[in-house]
Amino acid sequence: MAEYAIQVEDLRKVYGDVIAVDQLDFQVGRGEIFGMLGPNGAGKTTTIRVLMDILKADAGTVRVLGGAPGAARERVGYLPEERGLYRGLRLDETLVYLGRLKGMSVASARKRAAALLEQVGLAEWSRKKAQDLSRGMHQKLQIVASIIHDPALVILDEPFQGLDPVNSEVVKDLIRDLRAHGKTIVLSAHEMSRVEALCERILLIHHGRAVLYGALADIKKQFAPNAIEIAPPLDWQGWAEVARVEARDRKQVVYLQPHIAPRDFLKRILEQGLFVEQFALATMPLEQIFVTVVKGE
Ligand SMILES: Nc1ncnc2c1ncn2[C@@H]1O[C@H](COP(=O)(O)OP(=O)(O)OP(=O)(O)O)[C@@H](O)[C@H]1O
Ligand SMILES: [Mg+2]
Repeated sequence: MAEYAIQVEDLRKVYGDVIAVDQLDFQVGRGEIFGMLGPNGAGKTTTIRVLMDILKADAGTVRVLGGAPGAARERVGYLPEERGLYRGLRLDETLVYLGRLKGMSVASARKRAAALLEQVGLAEWSRKKAQDLSRGMHQKLQIVASIIHDPALVILDEPFQGLDPVNSEVVKDLIRDLRAHGKTIVLSAHEMSRVEALCERILLIHHGRAVLYGALADIKKQFAPNAIEIAPPLDWQGWAEVARVEARDRKQVVYLQPHIAPRDFLKRILEQGLFVEQFALATMPLEQIFVTVVKGE
């Protein structure tokens, strides 16, 4: 079994004179949740379409589940950017039909369809037609449709597009559940803040090229400001260690002078006998990291 779920080396894809993706290198490990992030037009969908064998690469090598794109189609689940299922079919019929296409028996497709619809809160809609669903419900149905055949690798192009916070959580739970069952999940998103907590590793694309790549925790650490998050808020007047303070919800982000280590700062706070409920190293939101990196290029 190949080590990686996906291996991309020096990928290039052009449309006429538009270079959509260039010199792109990344790997997705088996069993991880991988985020392909970047603003509109970055090249996420283009890359995904190459992985799905819908588009041919102009240069580079791409391996999916150890083979050429398209070779392991029945072990891959795909939510395309363009949405649409059979509007006149009932949800259960749609899912059984798609399961059959992927080689499932009617009985097992029906069973899995029922379980998945239940999991995303669509159980009572099972006998309704797709056309009777709201947009968000339709989106959940299509995500369910993409995993009906229990694929080893799931590629979701913008799974949170158009979902409210509650349904976003439902889909995140579904993705975490897939991960817990050993599946590999690749998802794209242009709103980085919405997927930060979900992804273990990320590829941040800008104008078709990678600008950040790796474990999210490492990236966050690398870009962490010399600051702490503290609650409840305190009055820092007269503290030479403090460069500036930002209020964030019921917390404060306290930016320290460059030579001040957070642990020494904490010691000083405790020595002063101040009441502290929460004290944590501050991190920079991914959006902000992206802006920092792109500005510095
Ligand atoms: N069929 C096409 N013909 C010509 N140019 C295209 C085509 N598809 C995409 N492009 C261009 O390629 C670039 C990358 O597009 P892509 O759809 O991959 O971006 P994306 O990261 O998925 O963006 P979004 O967040 O808006 O979905 C853009 O400049 C886009 O205009
Ligand atoms: Mg896209």
